[in-house]
Amino acid sequence: MESVTDQPDLFTTAGKIADLRARFQEAVLDPEAVAKEKQHAKGKGTARERIDQLLDTGSFVELDEYVRHRTTAFGMDKSRPYGDSVVTGVGTIHGRTVAVYSQDFSTFGGSLGEVAGEKIIKVMELALRSGIPIVGILDSGGARIQEGVVALGKYGEIFRLNTRASGVIPQISIIMGPAAGGAVYSPALTDFVVMVDKTSQMFVTGPDVIKTVTGEDVGMEELGGAHTHNTRSGVAHYLAEDEDDAIDYVRTMLGFLPDNNMSELPVYESEFEFETTDADRALNAIIPDSPNQPYDIHQVIRGIVDAEDFLEVQPLFAPNIVVGFGRIEGRSVGIIANQPSQMAGTLNIEAGEKASRFVRFCDAFSIPIVTLVDVPGYLPGTDQEWTGVIRRGAKLLYAYAEATVPLVTVILRKAYGGAYIVMGSKQLGADINLAWPTAEIAVMGGQGAVNILYRGEIKRAEAAGEDVAAVRTRLANEYTYNVASPFLAAERGELDGIIEPAQTRVSIAKALRALRGKRASLPPKKHGNIPL
Ligand code: HXC
Repeated sequence: MESVTDQPDLFTTAGKIADLRARFQEAVLDPEAVAKEKQHAKGKGTARERIDQLLDTGSFVELDEYVRHRTTAFGMDKSRPYGDSVVTGVGTIHGRTVAVYSQDFSTFGGSLGEVAGEKIIKVMELALRSGIPIVGILDSGGARIQEGVVALGKYGEIFRLNTRASGVIPQISIIMGPAAGGAVYSPALTDFVVMVDKTSQMFVTGPDVIKTVTGEDVGMEELGGAHTHNTRSGVAHYLAEDEDDAIDYVRTMLGFLPDNNMSELPVYESEFEFETTDADRALNAIIPDSPNQPYDIHQVIRGIVDAEDFLEVQPLFAPNIVVGFGRIEGRSVGIIANQPSQMAGTLNIEAGEKASRFVRFCDAFSIPIVTLVDVPGYLPGTDQEWTGVIRRGAKLLYAYAEATVPLVTVILRKAYGGAYIVMGSKQLGADINLAWPTAEIAVMGGQGAVNILYRGEIKRAEAAGEDVAAVRTRLANEYTYNVASPFLAAERGELDGIIEPAQTRVSIAKALRALRGKRASLPPKKHGNIPL
């Protein structure tokens, strides 16, 4: 036992500093050692280790490490650890300041009670006031059961702040453990959710409740694991292999983003080549001669962004549309592109929602949008109609139509019907619309048009015993050549130019240069009413 004489003399400066050191040992260093033991045993990092890894070395400044809960219920007053169940503070990523909070599962299961909630709210308010991004690292059993409605109230305040911060500062959530119950809604309100394979789960009601209420038997991983939320629900935007991968992804992503909605985009040095390169020329051979043959749109995207460096967002969800960040001339752009190698690049509900949210994010943070179009239309079917393709598909129209950032669209091949309009068409507000000579722009594809326009001709060919398939192909080709030609669209001014694929990278860069000073605004309103 410590004797009275071992206590620092609190009436001297040296004694006060010694006392501070002792308290820091008790508040931070000792619990960190315990946390390491508990978390490492589960193959997980501690809250502070995760922060240290996320931020530039040595940049973390912790806040509120001496905060303690005041709860007395259920004997809680016997255990009042410093800092409670979350570590908060500020630091830098690539030299730029960010705010961070990281839940500490080793303390009360990372659960959120009054003071843990207050700590998170305080650092969120700081981020909002200072115009810096906030990254939340979640590892928590949810609302602290012992604290009841007080804990629920803090969640309410966090949700409100998430909503206020939406479109003002980038908000990113990394799920590194459980996120159960209503607690999932804070990450859901943030811009991007990263989950770690096998060690993170998100669900509103857990497997036991589901079993009781619906009789369904489902495990935690299948219900709300990283794989499920990246491939099925679309809740998550990246499936990280492990904690390191999750953190790398977030650090990389923040490099593309501005600090807030009023600040400039980060600009990186780039040696942009304005001459056509061999890599550019390779794009001249990318579109197959057969309109039904797919190709990988990633090849085109890599061909137009600096150093082929493309950070894809939500790659595993609705892969028929590809979205993500790249740089052109060292400046961030958001890329949205149909993927002909998945479902022929058709648009469905999931693709529409994925792209709309991305368009809105880019627009909120003034990140110019480059759209690459090769879309045969909307996916037909009762499933799509009955699950609301009208209402949910309208989101993408809304998102493009309200966007005021520079919009550059290139039609590579198919652009049919409503899908032509929705994918960043001139009439929705795009600034520069280009097309490759391989573009086909029309109300519908050749085969569909032949069925309607040339019904009589087909019947006649059948009656005459002609090769009906050959007749169809001939008519469809004629239609495509005569009606769907991009030169017709160019004649009408719907396109600003028709370019060789090899000119795409330089043409987009020049378009973005021309649009750098774009100023556009919407009519004054409280807010619009996007179809939800
Ligand atoms: C208080 C909690 C807690 C909670 C966990 N703990 N969750 N304490 N409130 N919500 C404590 C445990 O008692 C335990 O304490 C320690 O944290 C570790 O928990 P374990 O259960 O041992 O860990 P593990 O086996 O890994 O299981 C993790 C878990 C499980 C799946 C998260 O703890 C669990 O199911 N917790 C409850 C989840 C839940 O229903 N939360 C409320 C959701 S509703 P000791 O002292 O033994 O180490 C909600 C509403 C939000 O959050 C509403 C917002 C609107």
